[in-house]
Amino acid sequence: MATAITECTPSFLAAAGLAVLAICSYLAVVLRRGGVAGAKRYPPAVGTVFHQVYHLRRLHDYYTDLFREHMTFRLLSPGRGQIYTSDPAVVEHILKTNFSNYGKGESNYENTSDLFGDGIFAVDGDKWKQQRKIASYDFSTRALRDFSGGVFNKNAAKLAHIVSDNAAAKQPMDFQALLMKATMDSIFTIAFGLDLNTLSGAAADEGSRFAAAFDDASEFILLRFVNAFWKVARFLNVGAEAALRHRIKVVDEFAYKHIRARADEMSVGKAHDAESKCDLLSRFIQATTSESGEVDYKYLRDIIMNIVIAGKDTTAGALAWFLYMMCKHPEVQEKISEEAREAADAGETASIDDFSQSLTDEALNKMHYLHAALTETLRLYPSVPLDNKECFSDDVLPNGFSVGKGDMVFYAPYAMGRMERLWGEDAQAFRPERWLDEHGVFQPESPFKFTAFQAGPRIWKGVRVQADEGLRGSAAPFLRAGSARQGRQRELQDHDHALHQAGSPSHGCGEMIVLGHIHIQIQ
Ligand code: HEM
Ligand SMILES: *[C@@H]1O[C@H](CO)[C@@H](O)[C@H](O)[C@H]1NC(C)=O
Ligand SMILES: *[C@@H]1O[C@H](CO)[C@@H](O)[C@H](O)[C@H]1NC(C)=O
Repeated sequence: MATAITECTPSFLAAAGLAVLAICSYLAVVLRRGGVAGAKRYPPAVGTVFHQVYHLRRLHDYYTDLFREHMTFRLLSPGRGQIYTSDPAVVEHILKTNFSNYGKGESNYENTSDLFGDGIFAVDGDKWKQQRKIASYDFSTRALRDFSGGVFNKNAAKLAHIVSDNAAAKQPMDFQALLMKATMDSIFTIAFGLDLNTLSGAAADEGSRFAAAFDDASEFILLRFVNAFWKVARFLNVGAEAALRHRIKVVDEFAYKHIRARADEMSVGKAHDAESKCDLLSRFIQATTSESGEVDYKYLRDIIMNIVIAGKDTTAGALAWFLYMMCKHPEVQEKISEEAREAADAGETASIDDFSQSLTDEALNKMHYLHAALTETLRLYPSVPLDNKECFSDDVLPNGFSVGKGDMVFYAPYAMGRMERLWGEDAQAFRPERWLDEHGVFQPESPFKFTAFQAGPRIWKGVRVQADEGLRGSAAPFLRAGSARQGRQRELQDHDHALHQAGSPSHGCGEMIVLGHIHIQIQ
């Protein structure tokens, strides 16, 4: 810790200098707004955006500490106002009660549009409504649910085989990388109706090249949010922006190739088999193609790529944390294995394939304890640890604080999951039982308190089903692979300390999800 501080000294001094500047600008803002005694009340200012830079390695824990003092606060910034909240009433206000006054906004659109385009993730208003309508309809159909459940299950079984082979050969493996591949393959099949096969394919394959370019592009897009000069770099086509342009080209060529092929297939009526009709691309082609048969390829690309963006890292991150929790809590793991054996009725010695076959929808629905353990994982390690909405016109929050037009309101699923005020004294503890009633039946929480899936109109009803199914379908076969090999499972637990070093959650959740790798070493 001492060395960290010494190393940070120049940047700390710079941050301190900037903080003084920020405090001056704060006073200017307060004065401009009619002074502290004015009619409007603003949340307490407890830090500056420069503190965020200083605490970058533990950003979400930094927010958590601040929330212990104030349910809602401000961080001063030279740009737009930044309000942070952990108050379910405020979350409900921005995500539901005054939905139309809070959205993604222009600036977010600008930052992301080269990759996200006009997809559901990036837009508000009518464009959002249209995609939402088609998608919600599709996600609620039985056929799509069966299709996607089957896809997740198949890839999880494939993953379980890889893990079990590596374990038998005492091969160390990068768990998070494997999970990223498995979810990429699943989401891509659901979106495009094609198997990318990054899980067992070679890195030089077209599918793997696409997946790698896609991951890089997502990271470069994220960089734009902290680099105020990205537009200059894009204009000059240098640095990260040049790399981003190259990656997007790879992504787009691949996506357009498959969209064209599918649209052509459908126009000549070849897509008869049930499976090809169940993928989202086919659905959206049907829904967006005009009477004259004109296909809007760019819009289709945006819609489909957004679903890949939305579903892939969220699911992989959640599963990585879930397996990490299982390593740390063998008693929970044991209970889930038991529940899975019972629900699937597959017998003690069933093979991975037989076991995953027996994991029907019905069997998964019986697994309340698994559902609870996954939800508990997302409570403490939400895939989206911090989310924000832009305020479109001056408003007053339920707690009496004012928000100005253009201000950003952040809500914090990670910090909210750790608040004693919301979850009781044991808020920090991993305890799946908190989600179960006395009969062991899963009890959902208010989405404004458990915010890992967002809430309000933009919570995609189907997303809940989708995510649950994806998670449960992916997690369950896996646990079987483990429990059939109890001995090795024990070894896994012994290597908990290795896990600790590789991806310690005390470093903050976001960092772990984006950069970290769970590295399980089996000796
Ligand atoms: C553990 C798994 C998942 C978690 C925790 C999760 C979480 C979230 C969150 C927090 C948002 C709101 C982000 C924002 O726009 O501000 C979101 C939106 C969305 N998610 Fe997921 N998600 C998961 C899985 C999936 C999957 C598997 C899919 C699709 C295959 C999906 C599709 C979407 C879409 C399309 C949206 C945008 C909805 C809208 O703006 O109306 N998600 N998800
Ligand atoms: C977009 O990125 C810029 C920095 O390049 C940042 O100032 C701005 O806040 C970002 N927009 C949003 C909505 O976060
Ligand atoms: C929503 O926001 C608008 C615009 O700022 C405001 O006038 C209105 O009172 C708000 N509505 C609610 C229900 O708070």
